[in-house]
Amino acid sequence: MSAYQIVDHSYDVVVVGAGGSGLRAAMGAAEHGLKTACVTKVFPTRSHTVAAQGGIAASLGNMGPDHWTWHMYDTVKGSDWLGDQDAIEYMCREAPAAVIELEHMGLPFSRTADGRIYQRAFGGMTQNMGEGPAAQRTCAAADRTGHAMLHTLYSQSLKHDTDFFIEYFALDLIMENGVCRGLVALNLDDGSIHRFRAQAVVIATGGYGRIYFSCTGAHTQTGDGNAMVLRAGLPLQDMEFVQFHPTGVYGVGVLITEGARGEGGYLTNAEGERFMERYAPHAKDLASRDVVSRAMAMEIREGRGVGEHKDHIFLHLDHLDPKILHQRLPGITETAKTFAGVDLTREPVPVVPTVHYNMGGIPTNFHGEVVTLKDGMPDAVVPGLFAVGEAACVSVHGANRLGSNSLIDLVVFGRAAGIRLNEVVKKGALPEALPKDAGELSLTRLDKYRYADGGSPTAEIRLEMQRTMQADCGVFRTDSTLGEGVAKIDQVFARMADVKTTDRSLIWNSDLMETLELDNLLSLAVVTMHCAANRKESRGAHMQEDYPDRDDKNWMRHTICWFDGWGGKAPANGVKIDYRPVHQFTLTDDIQTIPPKKRVY
Ligand code: FUM
Repeated sequence: MSAYQIVDHSYDVVVVGAGGSGLRAAMGAAEHGLKTACVTKVFPTRSHTVAAQGGIAASLGNMGPDHWTWHMYDTVKGSDWLGDQDAIEYMCREAPAAVIELEHMGLPFSRTADGRIYQRAFGGMTQNMGEGPAAQRTCAAADRTGHAMLHTLYSQSLKHDTDFFIEYFALDLIMENGVCRGLVALNLDDGSIHRFRAQAVVIATGGYGRIYFSCTGAHTQTGDGNAMVLRAGLPLQDMEFVQFHPTGVYGVGVLITEGARGEGGYLTNAEGERFMERYAPHAKDLASRDVVSRAMAMEIREGRGVGEHKDHIFLHLDHLDPKILHQRLPGITETAKTFAGVDLTREPVPVVPTVHYNMGGIPTNFHGEVVTLKDGMPDAVVPGLFAVGEAACVSVHGANRLGSNSLIDLVVFGRAAGIRLNEVVKKGALPEALPKDAGELSLTRLDKYRYADGGSPTAEIRLEMQRTMQADCGVFRTDSTLGEGVAKIDQVFARMADVKTTDRSLIWNSDLMETLELDNLLSLAVVTMHCAANRKESRGAHMQEDYPDRDDKNWMRHTICWFDGWGGKAPANGVKIDYRPVHQFTLTDDIQTIPPKKRVY
């Protein structure tokens, strides 16, 4: 087939990615006796879930009254009515059991005085269907919850005999007649190519925040799974919805948890004013992230930013008892010192809204099965293919995710995928033989970039992409910025035909690997920009100033987008956009859907 050494494997299930959702899915499949492999680009405990700080949402009610229907109400409202209500119902109903399960697996949660799991307030989480005060719903392990969770789930996956392929870079899905048959990956240790034949592949590769210049995500967040899906001719959903976290450290983008405001922290402008009181009179600093980020951007835009360039905002924690900071927020105390040179017991932290999360991704149902819009049918399942976590769009976050709903999404839907896999995969049955040419296209692509000898270094194209996304697809968008953005990102994409790969080695950290990652990122940047330009309304994180209102009549619809711009085709011609209805139904008769209304905090 080629000059590469090819190694073949056969598994019931192959999971790609070893963050929270990947490990929970792998553990679940293995626990049910399925022969399971987990293929991961980084060592499992270095996956980006490790950076999740503030906690995981579940209506345990340990700190005051709570109910899963209140959690559901807040999530639907937080999503600005773009979330699918059946999936949101599933997540919120299952959340308490999922957290207790983590506790029983050994996750070292912080504790209340009487020994229960400690829960803090987070943005947009309320009691009594938005009518009551803030709900303390976010279960925390100090401000290192993701770290604790990842270690717990990794041990459980090992306990259930998952086979790990660590530092393997997934190149492509193996598809045959619309069915997923496996995966091709590159071993970054020795450059060998591995073909995994499987009855099911689960994509859990995380987000693609690195299409932007400044983001809280790891440098490894290059949307590899989402790009593989596009290359397989399948669509992505709601890509225009990109979350800006209000409190990234100014200039470096490192996260300061929303839990800081949950513990009593607040934001001020150059006049020392607690401006959130004007934008969200009830929730104030604990409004949802899109609302807080927009308010901060407005303050900066109107000249009330702090610092020499008036381009950021202050986060105050200096009024809190140092004991609380030490006990509940030790990680950000260290982060503020290291990255901003600030002792947060005495001074405010300089912060700015920073790209944090992709609400969009691979469309799935609430079992984690990938779906597509086919022959007018919105929810047609793609056999053999699953997606979970930030790579997926189930869609529980809709147009805006509430803080701490991402960790619960990972474990609830990772677990759901494990359950479904147990139903659809035949234990130990040999997967279908791979098509004869399996992996050939991947190797052609690998060689194309390996020997690319044009005039544009990878790093230069990447920087141009990141600056374009940052400038033209930010917190505020207009027809003009998006129009320019579409033209510019299409040009940046075209530059890949002229890319130069300086280091052709097939191992970790090579320029070749960065080129392959850039190729993934660029396709995602193109569809994000095009989908944003197409949506003529404002909803959640998509604030379109030429259409400042939410338009439920025309736009309460999920965007579905395909991309086929490779092979010299101009990107604009390669982008195809369609829409599908939002699920405004519930799974059970015992609850009602939450009808749309104006979203105020
Ligand atoms: O602010 C945070 O701790 C982040 C949490 C999240 O994105 O869910």
